[in-house]
Amino acid sequence: MAAALALALVSLALAGPGVGAGLGPELAAGLSCPAAGCTCSEGGTRVSCRAAGLGALPPLYDRLVVLDVSGNNISALPNDALLPAAGLRDLNLSANLLEVVSATSLVSSSVARLWLDRCGLARLPPLSMPRLHHLSVEDNFLSGLSKGSLSECRSLRVLRLSRNKLSEVPTAALATLTRLQALNLAGNLISELTATSLPELPSLHTLQLSPETLVVHRQSVCRLGGEEEGGVGGFRGGCEGEGEAAAVGEGDQVDDARRRSE
Ligand SMILES: *[C@@H]1O[C@H](CO)[C@@H](O)[C@H](O)[C@H]1NC(C)=O
Ligand SMILES: *[C@@H]1O[C@H](CO)[C@@H](O)[C@H](O)[C@H]1NC(C)=O
Repeated sequence: MAAALALALVSLALAGPGVGAGLGPELAAGLSCPAAGCTCSEGGTRVSCRAAGLGALPPLYDRLVVLDVSGNNISALPNDALLPAAGLRDLNLSANLLEVVSATSLVSSSVARLWLDRCGLARLPPLSMPRLHHLSVEDNFLSGLSKGSLSECRSLRVLRLSRNKLSEVPTAALATLTRLQALNLAGNLISELTATSLPELPSLHTLQLSPETLVVHRQSVCRLGGEEEGGVGGFRGGCEGEGEAAAVGEGDQVDDARRRSE
């Protein structure tokens, strides 16, 4: 009992003036997390509000680094939603039903990893995140990506778009992603990979596609490094042929196309 009281006194002392600077009012008072159902750790830098029944983002503040608000009922993100979280690096918005995402809600100069899986998205909301290197928008209803949708995300290294409704590789949207290393397009409706499907992506080494229905044109395979042993889709035998296509059987492994840097 006495020990518990002593501990309580210590934590009160720690939460005294100064310590809470930059935190939201509730946290600054040392009393609770920003919203009911959330748990906070590491001095309020990590907040998890997973499946907490939230209808909106909890109050954000500048010392927040990791925020998980997945599995809630967040349907709208207002303008400048992330502005108060100037140090936010990881944001998990998965499994919300995002219906209204305003043009400046996903703007952040700090966010490095963003998850928007299972959000019912038919369009990728505009993202302006110069530090973003990991973006996951899996299990949505994207049928395409508009040309400029990722042009403000030039640091992107990993892009996961599996299980959407894409009928072709979103070539124009990918064109600015010169640092992209891994692209997952599996589980879409892409049935053909041609020489022009992929823009020049100098850093790309892993491309995942669903092999069952895919027709790969020999030229594009060669661009991906198919002339080397172990290239894409079991292609063997040189890259001289122009415009030849091969249907890839179910047994073939096209889903991990490795492009080697020479
Ligand atoms: C979301 O709202 C619906 C009804 O409005 C409710 O049934 C459901 O439990 C809510 N989900 C969460 C995760 O709070
Ligand atoms: C994001 O949230 C989803 C749903 O709760 C969860 O499955 C996933 O593991 C989370 N991702 C990370 C990196 O925490």
